[in-house]
Amino acid sequence: MQTGLRGRDLISTQDWSIEELETLMTVAFDLKLKRALGEPHPYLRDKVLAMLFFFSSTRTRASFEAGMAQLGGHAQFIESQTTQISHGDTATEIGEILGRYNDGLAIRQCDWQIGNEYIRAVAEASRSPVFNMQCDVYHPFQILADWMTIREKFGHDLRGCTINISWAYAASYQKPISVPQSLILLMTRLGMNVRLTHPPEYQLMPAIMQQAQENCAEHGGNLAVLDDFDAGFEGADVVYPKSWGALLTTQEDAESARIGQQYSDWIADERRLALAHKNAIYMHCLPADRGIEVTDGVLDGPQSVVFDEAENRLHVQKAALALTMG
Ligand code: CP
Repeated sequence: MQTGLRGRDLISTQDWSIEELETLMTVAFDLKLKRALGEPHPYLRDKVLAMLFFFSSTRTRASFEAGMAQLGGHAQFIESQTTQISHGDTATEIGEILGRYNDGLAIRQCDWQIGNEYIRAVAEASRSPVFNMQCDVYHPFQILADWMTIREKFGHDLRGCTINISWAYAASYQKPISVPQSLILLMTRLGMNVRLTHPPEYQLMPAIMQQAQENCAEHGGNLAVLDDFDAGFEGADVVYPKSWGALLTTQEDAESARIGQQYSDWIADERRLALAHKNAIYMHCLPADRGIEVTDGVLDGPQSVVFDEAENRLHVQKAALALTMG
């Protein structure tokens, strides 16, 4: 178990070794039990986390804020629009200044080809650890919560377990590619059989695909790319159909939406879920487009674990904060 994590940033799960991530997971399960038992666990008394949002959030904001309170500290909520960032505060200045006021700095900045660079620039300048609450490339805390949820359902050894990470249609907005990218990166390190299913226009970043292949070579899993929505479900243990924008094809929202409309029948429904293993679980990070991306019957059905996923955000984040900010 590697415990020397004080002061470490968490921007991508790739930045942490599997042994370090296992430590985080062990602490997350312990904190989940402590909360269930009503056992106080103020590991971060008097510590403050700044949460800087460039985009809206339900789960991420609420879980980080609740988590800091449960750890005995405080989280300050900052929206970029109500700061002087729009008038010129640079990433370096934000890192230097908020890093001095706070004991940790969490940021959500999803702008395509900007977000990850911004978070890394803040981290470079900050004396306090920096946490990625989602950028254009990664969504590490979502994927750690997903791992915790899969582990709860299938146990510790996930080798031989098949996960289908699939594109699905949505009409609401062109969602970032950070969730599927972070999923293929972590699940290939767990030795899982990973399927990535999407129409041809919905490629992920070549560097991420390359890294996922290297993870397979190192950890013994495999990565298959499919373009048939139904085939992705067949026999899978975990199905994770969610929408993302055609960002590698076009950066125009209207054009991305037009491309998506060709695949409006890519909806996770009962017929498709029945193609998966009979004990398969349905996952989604939420928010989902009900009736478009997934049917109510699947999202609210017995195989859906979306509320466990959402809950586990709290526990994995608290574990990361306690290990790095303590
Ligand atoms: N899954 C997720 O990150 O949810 P929010 O966008 O509501 O934070």
